[in-house]
Amino acid sequence: MKALVLSGGKGSRLRPITYSYAKQLIPIVNKPILFYVLEDLASAGISDVGMIVGATKDLIKAAVGNGENWGIKVTYIEQKSPLGLGHAVKIAQPFIGNQPFVMYLGDNILRGGIKSFISEYGNKGEDINILLTEVKHPECFGVAELDQRGRVKKLVEKPQHFISNHVLVGVYIFNQKIFPAVDAIKPSGRGELEITDAIQYVIDHGGKVEPFLIKGWWKDTGKTEDVLEANSLLIEGIEPRISGAIDQLSKLSGRINIGENTLISNSVIEGPVIIGGNCLIENGLIGPFTSIGDNVQITNSKIEKSIIMEETVIINYQNKIVNSLIGRGVKLKSRQEKPAVHQLLLGDHCSLGIYE
Ligand code: DAU
Repeated sequence: MKALVLSGGKGSRLRPITYSYAKQLIPIVNKPILFYVLEDLASAGISDVGMIVGATKDLIKAAVGNGENWGIKVTYIEQKSPLGLGHAVKIAQPFIGNQPFVMYLGDNILRGGIKSFISEYGNKGEDINILLTEVKHPECFGVAELDQRGRVKKLVEKPQHFISNHVLVGVYIFNQKIFPAVDAIKPSGRGELEITDAIQYVIDHGGKVEPFLIKGWWKDTGKTEDVLEANSLLIEGIEPRISGAIDQLSKLSGRINIGENTLISNSVIEGPVIIGGNCLIENGLIGPFTSIGDNVQITNSKIEKSIIMEETVIINYQNKIVNSLIGRGVKLKSRQEKPAVHQLLLGDHCSLGIYE
């Protein structure tokens, strides 16, 4: 079976990070979200992957290459603008050919993986299989209503009124019936060809759509809080490893992974924490649930439940930094002298919360 991975889109809910970066490359426990998707596909035995890319194609290509790191072959399919998940399927038809295929959204992380989902496809004679899970706030997702036998009856994308708690996780298996459907549907109110409308079209034209309810956790990493939650969930499983140098004044507890050439000096690290290579952490309090990328300096500062991306420098920041997603090459510095002032250079759509 081939796979189609969607790595285009705008990532508008993760601005300003996504002005300069692909949302699928945001690191969760110091590894891009998209790499978890590719690992999952490879471990499910899929080796032929079509990757939808948009404005951030160069970044995605530089990170993924031809896929050999995962033992897969990646073919890039360029989507000129993010016209929807249905549009992505439409332009991928020449790559897919005549076989059923799995579509995986490049910003989704699924703890349990997709192996059993793939092996069960077709057992009930279905045309489409969709992954579903139950959530408390279904209005942010595609929602599925099931009939009495548990088969999918109706799908609505981000409904304004409650229909059901079953939402679509971003993994689907389609056969050829999806192609006439994506050709027939019209753009939604948000101007996209919605995959939910295409699946509804298949149902309305006599196709069978079966749900597969997932048991483990799943995250759509579309918003900052989702990215941080995914990081907190995955970081609990890190392999403890200390490659850098820790001085005698520092205290470490819990699961901690520290990369090469990193120096931890007079600091407290409360796991789970991952710190990349070539970092300097001095007089710091780091963790728990914190990921720090390569080449980061943290001096006289406290960080908890956050992701700090590579090349960032945080010096003398007086308040504890909590629940924060900080991009690459950011400089956060403060001085001890009075008067205390804030001097800011914030790009469009930044968010700064100071809670004294
Ligand atoms: O995550 C699950 C949800 O994903 C489902 O419940 C919804 O039914 C489904 O429509 C989708 O909703 P989102 O609004 O979260 O989709 P998003 O725009 O974030 O796009 C998902 C992925 O697909 C992301 O990696 C970007 C990529 N994409 C998106 C669009 C619109 C493309 O490659 N091309 C596109 O045109």
